[in-house]
Amino acid sequence: MQSIDDYRDHFVSFLEKFVTLNEPQNLYNPINYILNLGGKRLRPVLTLMTADIFNVDYKHALNAALSIEVFHNFSLVHDDIMDDAPLRRGHQTVHEKWDVNTGILSGDAMLIMAYQLFENYEADVFQDLAKLFSKTALEVCEGQQYDVDFETRNDVTIPEYLKMIEYKTAVLVGAAMKMGAIVAKASASEQNNIYEFGRNLGIAFQLQDDYLDAFGDPKTFGKQVGGDIIENKKTYLYLKALEFLNDDDKAILVALFSSQPEQVEEKIDTAKRLFESSGAAKATKEAIQVYTQKAFDNLESLNISDDKKALLKTFGSSLMNRTV
Ligand code: IPE
Ligand code: IPE
Ligand code: MG
Ligand code: MG
Ligand code: MG
Repeated sequence: MQSIDDYRDHFVSFLEKFVTLNEPQNLYNPINYILNLGGKRLRPVLTLMTADIFNVDYKHALNAALSIEVFHNFSLVHDDIMDDAPLRRGHQTVHEKWDVNTGILSGDAMLIMAYQLFENYEADVFQDLAKLFSKTALEVCEGQQYDVDFETRNDVTIPEYLKMIEYKTAVLVGAAMKMGAIVAKASASEQNNIYEFGRNLGIAFQLQDDYLDAFGDPKTFGKQVGGDIIENKKTYLYLKALEFLNDDDKAILVALFSSQPEQVEEKIDTAKRLFESSGAAKATKEAIQVYTQKAFDNLESLNISDDKKALLKTFGSSLMNRTV
């Protein structure tokens, strides 16, 4: 096994060789731009680590790891269009730097490239990877549609929210790990156990993303702080605040999240104040811990060494404390 930083470095060197200098430039430049904008590289690191955990050289998993990262970046390009987001990783989003049509088509091309990378594997591995990928990618679309549908609904429940983030975010983290296990030809039960670990970690990860969207430091977060509030996203913060607030404050929050004001600062300030005073911010922090612990519990059923479990736990804990 190697350190998390080493896996990331190996992955980034591999990614840098993938740069496509084809014509037309307006298709390929945005692809290179988003892929080289950095990011935490969380999913590909998990793919490589998982291959090693199941005793195959991480190098065999590089194409699967790249596929996951290319898909993830495709989903970000389209997500930023849907969320009207100006900033990504501290820089202009693709549709701001170019335009919406460029973002749509470059994103489409990335989705195809992600599939194409499976061609580097032999037939049985190819089939397992492609099957998992298709299922996961469709679930991500479903999650993204729920996310958008919820913007204009005011009766979203916590179970509905949890299903939405499971689909839009957590299944990809699970799949990233399962792909490492597939490449390593781990048993079906090992593949499923590691998928469950990733899925629960992914739920914690999205809860933390929601928290940082409101309470992150604009200097480190790399995205527009308050973006979810501007877009009336029904996050855990919002849903818990509704649950805890008295009727007067609840009415204020509901009205706020049905509005699209020109000046957003006051909306963001009021929402954040209510998220804090209601105890919703604290409840979100607790939920992040609960899902991280669920992920750690999933490790119990895995027949791998304690060192390997410890590395996965270090990784999970570092995600809980992140500021980016
Ligand atoms: C952003 O993912 C989208 C979510 C699912 C929250 P990351 O936070 O992993 O983004 P990068 O790749 O590190 O920029
Ligand atoms: C992202 O959810 C999920 C996908 C991109 C599929 P968010 O909309 O919360 O992600 P960020 O905050 O823009 O990165
Ligand atoms: Mg978004
Ligand atoms: Mg979104
Ligand atoms: Mg977000």
